[in-house]
Amino acid sequence: MKRVLSIACLLFSFSLAVSLAAQGTMAPTAGMKITTDAEYSTHMKEIQQMNGVLNKSIKGGDAAEAGKAAARMEVLFKNVHAYWAAKKVEDATTAAQNVVTSVQAVQKALASNDMAAAETARAAIGANCMSCHTAHREKLPEGGFKIK
Ligand code: HEC
Repeated sequence: MKRVLSIACLLFSFSLAVSLAAQGTMAPTAGMKITTDAEYSTHMKEIQQMNGVLNKSIKGGDAAEAGKAAARMEVLFKNVHAYWAAKKVEDATTAAQNVVTSVQAVQKALASNDMAAAETARAAIGANCMSCHTAHREKLPEGGFKIK
């Protein structure tokens, strides 16, 4: 009986995790394949947040916090990169790759305690957010955005 219960419990947790992942409400993991608009949006929302943390912490000289944000952005943008690469959309794939390269450069600069180099690498990120949004982000009349 106990065994049956624990199997039922396991199955329940599993299906819960699957449905949360399907809704895109779970925090994205490294190597996660983006398959829905909701998952894509979850990535972008965390990217926005981490980008703010990165900016503030580099300017405030907090290398530890900046390093965490940059590492998280690397995970998120690698997933975004894979999404566009699979769709064979070249400009978006390049924009995502550029951000991956920038956040890797930020981490490298932080590892050698070079805040100025970290800021230079960080400053290169924004243009890629913009160019990809201009080409592939559509504002919805009811608010929010969709992929185009
Ligand atoms: C490779 C293309 C690409 C890059 C690079 C990119 N984005 Fe996006 N972003 C999109 C697309 C497409 C959407 C619209 C779909 C959506 O909202 O999920 C979007 C939506 C967003 C949203 C709205 C999320 C929502 O659904 O409410 C935010 C915020 C955002 N991006 C922030 C950023 C920031 C900050 C950067 C740079 C650090 C960035 N993005 C880089 C493609 C990109």
